[in-house]
Amino acid sequence: MMPETAPEFYRIQKLPPYVFAVINEMRAKARAAQIDVIDLGMGNPDGATPRVVVNKLVEAARNARNHRYSQSRGIPRLREEIVKRYQQNYGVALDPDKEAIVTIGAKDALAHLLFAVVGPGDVVASPNPAYPIHQYGVIMAEGQACMLPMPDAPTFLGRLEDLYRGGVKPKLLLISFPHNPTTTCVDLEFMREIVRLARQHGTLVVHDFAYADLGFDGYRPPSILQVEGAKEVAVEIFSMSKSYNMAGWRVGFCLGNARVIAALARIKSYLDYGVFQPIQIASIIALRECEEEPAKICAAYQKRRDALVDGLKRAGWPVEKPRGTMFLWAPLPERFRAMGSLEFSKLLLEKALVAVSPGIGFGPLGEGYVRFALVENEQRIRQATRAIGQFLKE
Ligand SMILES: Cc1ncc(COP(=O)(O)O)c(C=O)c1O
Repeated sequence: MMPETAPEFYRIQKLPPYVFAVINEMRAKARAAQIDVIDLGMGNPDGATPRVVVNKLVEAARNARNHRYSQSRGIPRLREEIVKRYQQNYGVALDPDKEAIVTIGAKDALAHLLFAVVGPGDVVASPNPAYPIHQYGVIMAEGQACMLPMPDAPTFLGRLEDLYRGGVKPKLLLISFPHNPTTTCVDLEFMREIVRLARQHGTLVVHDFAYADLGFDGYRPPSILQVEGAKEVAVEIFSMSKSYNMAGWRVGFCLGNARVIAALARIKSYLDYGVFQPIQIASIIALRECEEEPAKICAAYQKRRDALVDGLKRAGWPVEKPRGTMFLWAPLPERFRAMGSLEFSKLLLEKALVAVSPGIGFGPLGEGYVRFALVENEQRIRQATRAIGQFLKE
């Protein structure tokens, strides 16, 4: 176990221990005792990276030229390749030198971008609940996190308009659709409205597009950069983690507004030497040769979604089908509401041997929900829902 953090460290005081650690520890203890837990907790993809990409990594790793420091902005050919993908998939033209930078996954992009552009007291508005770095990246940068409730996209937009009407001028808007954990999905019209508001009020927009390729039943998530004029105010973060099953490789991109990209490049030039070059070279192959991979990965998640939703319904826990992401955001069954999401998650692990993430871990507005990640196969998901059904019957 990690030792308790020292309260005398200025920034550490502001970072509460991860709520998910409680469930992770219970799961680890059960597994150490040879008890089989079905782990639908962390959004950690279980699929393999495409073979051609792994092969390219091995080949490039054998070449001593690739053992040196790389470039903190990423090698030019990789930046060119992501720019091509944006042109092909979204019809968006980007300059690979000024409007694209390679990052150490989306998390690095988010944390360092906030560090680069947010100053003490700057207001950053974002939906809540949210992926933890969206909130704590702002706190670490000493900005003021302004959380707007998002039961659905129109409500969030309405609250944002109220904020502007009330005279608050956020420096930055941090959004992410398809959304983790709520699975909220939006259309291009929503993005247009965000860009319109941002341009009108001089706000920057960061769109975390980690689930860019995970839209179900024919739904295609829009890129914010498809909106005309978006580049004046917005950057988008694209990640290889979910689209190509490359979560452990740590490769992402920040694309769009040149001023923001330059600020991120400056910070990163002090902090890192870029991703290990063989990984960048292999990522070029993923983008260039694995065009069909994202759709295949998405189809597998869709089947798992169906297995989970149907299974929970049979178990007496009716839930809505999400249109995107690799998650299900489920309200606690009525009779467990009072106990809260953390206690309910503990109970689910203890009684049904199924690990989920308690909603409270995603911020105060996540209470009352748990998040299932679709990271075990359909058979295991069915096994989980049967165990949940048994537990709910008791
Ligand atoms: C909304 C969101 N952004 C970013 C990430 C992390 O992406 P990466 O692996 O590229 O750092 C996740 C991972 O779960 C996520 O849910």
